[in-house]
Amino acid sequence: MSVNKEVKRITVHTLQEMKNRGEKIAMLTAYDYSMATIVDEAGMDIILVGDSASNVMAGHETTLPITLDQMIYHASAVVRAAKRALVIVDLPFGTYQGNSKEALNSAIRIMKESGAHGVKIEGGVEIAESVSRILTAGIPVMGHLGLTPQSIYKFGTYTVRAKEATEAQKLREDALKLQELGCFGIVLEKIPATLAKEVSESLQIPTIGIGAGQYCDGQVLVIHDMLGINKGFKPRFLRQYANLSDVMSGAIKNYVSDVKAKDFPNESEQY
Ligand code: KIV
Repeated sequence: MSVNKEVKRITVHTLQEMKNRGEKIAMLTAYDYSMATIVDEAGMDIILVGDSASNVMAGHETTLPITLDQMIYHASAVVRAAKRALVIVDLPFGTYQGNSKEALNSAIRIMKESGAHGVKIEGGVEIAESVSRILTAGIPVMGHLGLTPQSIYKFGTYTVRAKEATEAQKLREDALKLQELGCFGIVLEKIPATLAKEVSESLQIPTIGIGAGQYCDGQVLVIHDMLGINKGFKPRFLRQYANLSDVMSGAIKNYVSDVKAKDFPNESEQY
């Protein structure tokens, strides 16, 4: 991590201090340099280079197809933009489940080749050995529990997880295990707010919610969803802060019609 003298970089310790003093943590995804520059300058605490890039950048139906090389490509661009935010990168599907050595190699590639500050990994006790091995190499790890999109074919649907007592209990145990192993935080995706509250209060490390209610220590959204670039994706948990799809479409249509009408470029726009 290069030292920037003007802006103080958020670290995993900053995040812990924020939880300790009750200050909420803001996290948002970004996948490219231009967007990440805007996100960073807006005061984001964590930029997540999510494997949701598979959906919103590449147009896949799920997060499963994105590769480690592609994640590193996106992450490198985001790292070049982020002067203040902590940059965390998803370990994509198939790069850590095999064994802990493979998980460590994947995490090392992300850190070395992109310059990111940590990794996020989906799952609980079943990936404990991998989490532990990555942490041993000094790489900060963020957990991800609840609706873990890489397991979509096991779940069969993107509906709320851990509503049943058994799954809720496993989530509590997984969260404690991830904390015990040394994770610096945990994303809780699409679980009941009461369960997220209980888990957030029982853990010392911060929880970051998406569709997990107001009691998490921070919140995360996918940037394309909250900016309204993704038309038609409107789950209950999503607050849409802009309607960029319409703004962009209007501008592009105006450009097309100006070109067709021979109105662009005009005399002042040429040499
Ligand atoms: O990939 C992603 O964008 C994520 C967030 C939804 C938490 O994992």
